[in-house]
Formats: sequence, C-alpha cells, structure tokens
Amino acid sequence: MTSAHGSVDPRLAISDVDRRLFGGFVEHLGRHIYDGIHEPAHPSADADGFRTDVIELVKELGVSTIRYPGGNFVSGYRWEDGVGPVDQRPRRLDLAWHSTETNEVGLHEFSDWLEKVGSDLMLAVNLGTRGTQEAIDLLEYANVDAETDWTRQRRANGRDEPLAVKMWCLGNEMDGPWQLGHRNADDYGKLASRTAKGMRMVDPGIELVVCGSSGSGMPTFGSWERTVLEHTFDDVDFISCHSYYQEMGGNAQEFLASGVDMARFIESVVSIADAVAATKKSDKRIMISFDEWNVWYLHAEGGGQNDKPKETGWPVAPRLLEDQYHALDAVVFGDLMITLLQHADRVRSASLAQLVNVIAPIMTEPGGIAWRQTTFFPFSITSRLTGDRVVRVPVTAGTFTSERFGEVAAVNAVATVDDDGVSLFVVNRSTTDAADLRLDLAAVAAQFGRQLHVTESHLLHEDDMYAANTLEDPERVGVRPLEGLALDGDALTATLPPVSWAAVRLA
Ligand code: AHR
Repeated sequence: MTSAHGSVDPRLAISDVDRRLFGGFVEHLGRHIYDGIHEPAHPSADADGFRTDVIELVKELGVSTIRYPGGNFVSGYRWEDGVGPVDQRPRRLDLAWHSTETNEVGLHEFSDWLEKVGSDLMLAVNLGTRGTQEAIDLLEYANVDAETDWTRQRRANGRDEPLAVKMWCLGNEMDGPWQLGHRNADDYGKLASRTAKGMRMVDPGIELVVCGSSGSGMPTFGSWERTVLEHTFDDVDFISCHSYYQEMGGNAQEFLASGVDMARFIESVVSIADAVAATKKSDKRIMISFDEWNVWYLHAEGGGQNDKPKETGWPVAPRLLEDQYHALDAVVFGDLMITLLQHADRVRSASLAQLVNVIAPIMTEPGGIAWRQTTFFPFSITSRLTGDRVVRVPVTAGTFTSERFGEVAAVNAVATVDDDGVSLFVVNRSTTDAADLRLDLAAVAAQFGRQLHVTESHLLHEDDMYAANTLEDPERVGVRPLEGLALDGDALTATLPPVSWAAVRLA
C-alpha cells in the first residue's frame, strides 16, 4: 500500500473548461460510417438509415464536437462526391485505407446525424491532393448565406440555413510520409497560410487548426511546429497534436506512464508556439487542438497504418482497426483525460479518435448489438461530471520508475468546480500497490460555505486487467461505486486498487 495525500483547493484554478475538450472523431474508415453509425437494414435504423442504438450510446458518451471526415481519408477526398442525390454519387477508391468509398454518407447526412446525437461539426479540408480553391468552395457551400452557385446547390440539397461550421482543420497529418500529398514543413506552412487567408475572406468567424506533428516521436517533431507556425502564426488559432498509446512488450507499468508522455508533448508544443510568438513580438497565444488521441495497438501484428484489408480488391467497409480494449487500456485512457484537463488552459479542443468500431469506445455487430468498450466509461463519466473550471490537485504519492520518464507519480488527479460542487478524477498508475488516498477538502468547504457530500462515485478496476467487453460478453467490464470512500469532516479518504481510475462527485 502506498499513501497519496493532497488537497482540493478551488483557488488553484488552471482554466475554465472548453467543452470542446470532449470532442470525438468520425472518419470514413473501415466500419465506422457504413455498418457502424449507418446501417439501413438494421432493426434499430431510423428513416435515414442511422442506427438508433448507436445514436443513444453516442449521446450517453457525451461528445461535444466531432471531427469529420478524416483522418488520412480526407487527404484524397473530394467533398463534392458526398453531396447531391445519393444514387448519382460516384464510387471512389479510398487510397488511405485501400477500400471503396460509396459516398452514401456525405456532408448532409453526417450533419443530420450530428443533430440526432447533439454534437457540433468540425470539418477537415483536403490539403493532400487538393488545395486552397477546394477548401474555399467547401467553406462557401457550408457556411455562406448569399446567392451563389455553391449555396444554391446546398439549398437544393436540402439545407436552407448555412451549417455554420466553426472549427476547420487545414489538412491532416501532413508531416506523415504515409499521408497522400505529404510535404515538408515549409511547403505545408505556405499552403496552410494561403488557404487560411482565403478561408477567412469567405468567413472571418471560423477557427482554424494547422497540422502539428502526428506524434512526438516523429523525426521532424519540434522543427515542424516551429516552421509551420512561422508561416501561419497570424492565420490560425490552433495547432494540432496527435498521439496514440499502447502497451509494448507486455510492460504494463510503462504503458501506465502514457499520461506523462502526453503532458510533455503538450508542454513542448506550447513552448514552441510561445517561442514563435516571442519572435513575432506577439501576445497572441496559439491553442492546442489535440484532435487525435487514444489507445491504439498501432504496432500490433496486422494493426495500424498498414492494417489494409487482407482480401484482394477494394472492399466496402472492411473490418479495420477494430481494437478490443481491456481494463488496463481504460485506466490509461482515464489518465489521458486527466492530463487533458490539467492542460485545459492551452488544450482548448480535443477529439477522441475514433467513435464507432474503429479504435472506438462503441462497437457494433451488423444486424446485431452495439456495446460499450471499457474506454467508454472514463470518457462518458468525465464528460458528464466535468464542471466549469479545472483546478490542480497536488498529490504527494509514491512513485515508480519509468524507462522513459524516470520517477513517475503513482497517483495523478485533477478536479473541476462549478456552482453546485466539485468533481474529482484520479488514477492509480501502480501495477503493484493500492493507494491510500487522503484529500483535504477544507478549502472546498470554505468556498461553498458548507460541507459538501458525496453524491456519486465510480471505480474502474478489474483484478484481471486484461478483461474486456466483447460481442459474447458485452458487459464484462464496467464501473462500480468506490467502496470505502468516506468523508470525515474535511478529509476525503478512499483506497484505490492498483491499476484503477475513479471519479467522485461532491455536491
Ligand atoms: O485514427 C486513425 C488514423 O490515425 C487517422 O486516419 C490518421 O490521421 C492517424 O494517423
């Protein structure tokens, strides 16, 4: 048993919370759209062919903004293919995922689906095989309220009112050699700057995300951000971060240090962005859109960027990237959410990659059930319980030794505060020791002028940390109340088992 002592003090404010931190990501990839969210023959499908059981789960997950339509897919996508009468839409090769794209679902259908799930659209433009003109055309089609050829087409296709898409990504992972149209930082920076300027002439109210690195391990990481921001600093609002984590070589303890990696990544990008600001003598602060994050068994046999369909030909909606998540993955995932909240002053938007079937918290079987993966729980609970402001929760705890990061705190926590109470999120990263947690809430009582009470608590822990939810056993892993949780005067105490994530609401 290790001890973890700290306090919750609403005065240790990090930032207000931008709800876009709880964003998601839907890509035309594998069975995400087709046989995932859209399956007209499914018994639960609505008149538009969308699975209502999936809609209910996405609502329960609590996703704010959803990035669409990719991902690697967007770098070869012609957005015009996805509008107009469905029966006249072209079938195309999807070079990113070696599949056939039928274009049955496009901008209008996806926007309709977003209305059903209650999320906002975040669009990515193709800066891989296309450029400024096509990006401007799409923005005009989506956002402009004037009589033009594009807006007439939008109206004819069923949308009188502009879609009013606020956030736009200037391409996807342009630093990655796997990306269609991959280019160096200088070339991409110039293209992104030109495109951003043109897009702002169409709609000055949009927020723009320029591509950062597709991982902190990329050989160009750091210099990519610096060069790209030197070109685009005045044109954009956000720079993106992407990061995926997985257990390597059976080393669960190292995997549990993933939050440290994410924190360092964010802090490095913030430093680079602020250094560019300094050279430009600017007070402007570029924010981070962490628009791809998750656990992904990218380097597993048959997985990852090379996870192309095994069958010959160009299949429609093949099973790709259908990772099955276990309890350990969910604990790491919960810690990644804590890390995002701890950096909420600069990470103003984030997108869990992805949502359904493809490295996803929600899985479906064609004609069958939809179920929650283990990672569903930390996301839905954090999204639901997060209040208006994030506060630091300094915890003194035991440590473990990470190969990459040296001594790492076994317990990591953050809290949020709102007018009605406090929410606490905490993880025990140790694979061996339970943590005896003791938090002083005197400052919380002082702030509210009274003692708060625990109104709900959730623990995610399995004695078998590799337990998972499957088609055969879809409810094997879930959350349960945190046993032994006590509030005695100002002291909140609980025991966190090894490899566990917990949330507590006080109101
Ligand atoms: O999320 C899966 C893929 O990961 C995305 O298409 C790409 O942007 C990233 O490399």
